[in-house]
Amino acid sequence: MSTLPVALSPQESGLSYVPEAYLIPSLGKRGSVPKAHIPVIDIAALRSDSGEERSRVTQEIKHACLRWGFFQVVNHGMTEPVLDDALSACLKFFESPQEAKQKYLSTNVFNPTRYSTGLKTANDSVQFWRMFLKHYGTPLSKWAETWPEDPSDYREKMGNFLEEFKRVSLDVIPAVIESLGVNPTKLTEKFKEGMDVVTVNCYPPCPQPELALGLPPHTDFGCVTILHQSDHGLEVFDEEDQTWKSVPAVPGALQVHIGDQFEALSNGIYKSVLHRATLNNVKTRISIAVQYSLDVDEQIHTAEELIDDEHPRKYKPSSLREFLNFLSRTDVAASGKNY
Ligand code: SIN
Ligand code: FE2
Repeated sequence: MSTLPVALSPQESGLSYVPEAYLIPSLGKRGSVPKAHIPVIDIAALRSDSGEERSRVTQEIKHACLRWGFFQVVNHGMTEPVLDDALSACLKFFESPQEAKQKYLSTNVFNPTRYSTGLKTANDSVQFWRMFLKHYGTPLSKWAETWPEDPSDYREKMGNFLEEFKRVSLDVIPAVIESLGVNPTKLTEKFKEGMDVVTVNCYPPCPQPELALGLPPHTDFGCVTILHQSDHGLEVFDEEDQTWKSVPAVPGALQVHIGDQFEALSNGIYKSVLHRATLNNVKTRISIAVQYSLDVDEQIHTAEELIDDEHPRKYKPSSLREFLNFLSRTDVAASGKNY
């Protein structure tokens, strides 16, 4: 077992090998993983008035959700400086002195802002090669003051990014709902007032990337996750042939994942996508994943349109708070679901 102190990241420890605690026995020695042919969907039409164009996009979304529970979007309307500045501010946070990050060190999922490293506790059986920062997103008036004060531009850059990201989510999520044949109007109003749980992941270069993982296989607990990354590294599990496949990086594309709560909303028609983060030995990778959900105590119900005698309700209504309570159980935390 590694004897590194809890708060120290693998990068900061300056290691040239992967300590035993990070070795993932089931990984074996990985060769190259095949590429996943994930649909890349142009969503400009979701911001236009053309019903025909919109329905072409929702058909593409439906196809991607049925096949993968996952797709990439381009022409989302976010500008490069906003996307790049957010990644730079995040990188600066992780590069800041340990004492600055230490203030936010916590394993309590209810803390509004928390920082942690792969070395969560000495008792975890497997560690992950990652530092992360979690906090809430919009409305900024409520949450921005809980975000890190250092670097000094973090709040501004992250705030600009999250406001635009929320707008993209309000283009994409109604289209995903519509793609199920469900009227999105009422739910869209609820998503406007919903919670955004932001996870900023930092995966330092790993000396033996084939032996460790940045994040274990998991599905996201929210409704829909939208992710922006500095470089590729994500793998998704292909249910069709039961293998892991790498998600090719498409310049400027954002990634959209179906989460557990959306699976329940769809009565299991769309499955939350099983995914994991891999590592490289060249440069630090940053990803910003935002899980969009309804308000914390708002119950997610399976859409009535999707329930009939032949398709009975499969999921109990539940709220984000109930999911978070579940995640805070120590056995779940140890399994990697509460990453
Ligand atoms: C995540 O699953 O939250 C992040 C995956 C990634 O970093 O690509
Ligand atoms: Fe995830």
